[in-house]
Amino acid sequence: MSENSPGVQAYIKRGTAFSSAEAALRSKMRQKKFDTIAVHGLYGMEAALANQGSIIEPAYLSPAQHFENSDHMEAALAYLMPAWAYTRIANPGLHYLEQALALLEGYGFAGETSACMTSSGMAAVFMATNPFLTQEGSNTVMNIVASAKCYGGTFMLFNQRYAKERGIELRWVRDPLDLNEWADKIDNNTRFVFGEMPSNPGLGVFDIAALAALAHQHGLPLIVDSTIATPALMRPLQHGADIVVHSVSKCLAASGFAIAGAIVSRRDIPSRVGPAELRADFASYVKLLPMRDHGSSLSPFSALMILNDLRSLRSRVDLMSKNALKVAEFLAQHPQIESVNYPGLSASPGHEIAAKYLWLADGEDDYGSAVNRFGHLLSFNVKGGVRAARAVFDGLGMIWRATDLGRIKSVAAIPAISTHQQQGEEGRELSNIPDNMIRLSIGAEHPKDIIEDLEQALAGVEKSTVVSV
Ligand SMILES: Cc1ncc(COP(=O)(O)O)c(C=O)c1O
Repeated sequence: MSENSPGVQAYIKRGTAFSSAEAALRSKMRQKKFDTIAVHGLYGMEAALANQGSIIEPAYLSPAQHFENSDHMEAALAYLMPAWAYTRIANPGLHYLEQALALLEGYGFAGETSACMTSSGMAAVFMATNPFLTQEGSNTVMNIVASAKCYGGTFMLFNQRYAKERGIELRWVRDPLDLNEWADKIDNNTRFVFGEMPSNPGLGVFDIAALAALAHQHGLPLIVDSTIATPALMRPLQHGADIVVHSVSKCLAASGFAIAGAIVSRRDIPSRVGPAELRADFASYVKLLPMRDHGSSLSPFSALMILNDLRSLRSRVDLMSKNALKVAEFLAQHPQIESVNYPGLSASPGHEIAAKYLWLADGEDDYGSAVNRFGHLLSFNVKGGVRAARAVFDGLGMIWRATDLGRIKSVAAIPAISTHQQQGEEGRELSNIPDNMIRLSIGAEHPKDIIEDLEQALAGVEKSTVVSV
């Protein structure tokens, strides 16, 4: 390695100047409002002039970067200067998306944040957890402590891939609101604490600050899947969490043009294992090392699609949340409905904790004072069991039947036969997902039309019940 050669040194100097300019712009952007950050991110005038003056972030679809000479190549590939080298490792468009997301998750948080885009939400959950599962030192069985109220893919990753295939002990927390349950499960062999908030599809919540404090007492990182909330409503790093994961495929990219994931972390996280770099800057560590080798990078074209959606995140989430509350209130009083899961309903068991954490960013600028918003996702159980639930689902005339959520268009799914099918009956019982549950992701249509569609679907079941009686 000719790190000390004058040629390589010149490139290191050039890289340092680039990083310093970005750091200065980052400090400036951190003073801006949420919407301004979402629109501009870290793509400023200097970056535009280096990209033919394009006022929109570049989408370089080329897999690789041409280097000026061997010194340039060496400095870039040894990570001695910022570069993109090869799109599996880095790419300009991905860089601007990562910077924008890091700024948004860090909105209102005093510390620095960094982000790493991944090819899907599941790739993000995997890459955010796998680095803590290294076999180090003794042969004692390591364990992970996670909320059972989580997305079916996460359930399968932990239960099947980690526990059954790799022998890692999995300690599910049934009621994430119960701090004692978390505390009872953590011990000297725990590697991380994981929770999804609000959870898909049960809308479970937990006290992030209290759980972070508990994890930190044990020297462990708290990882939060914040997909359903998005940074427009909740920013877990601000409350003590160490790592946030997103299925960017959802509300962050509501138009539905990309599957993607993201890991966002704060600096200097606790961990019982791993190198110093892992603790110092987890998301950058994952990006430059484990993910380089695992290879789950995002397409630069998808990055551009996502950046486009990200710009209007806050107002979209506000509208979808307001619509969702109206739909939840309608369902809660409907005689055909057994129960509704929506943290915005005051009768919801998690309402108080949800109201502590879910606030519309800069809501006071729009509404005169800060406002709670509870997100676009809800679920409900239909009276009459599976048959009735299927009949309501099949009767929908505008709301899409699909395994999707966070979309600008309303979408419904029956988790037991779709997103949470693989985890089996026992797993669904653990996660509290009955067969008659319908998950509903509310879009930006007028709420009157969404309610009308539900009303006619429910009326169809009422009629068929009368006929069959
Ligand atoms: C909360 C949550 N996390 C992670 C994922 C996985 O994301 P992806 O489908 O982008 O892999 C999903 C997908 O539905 C999800 O809802």
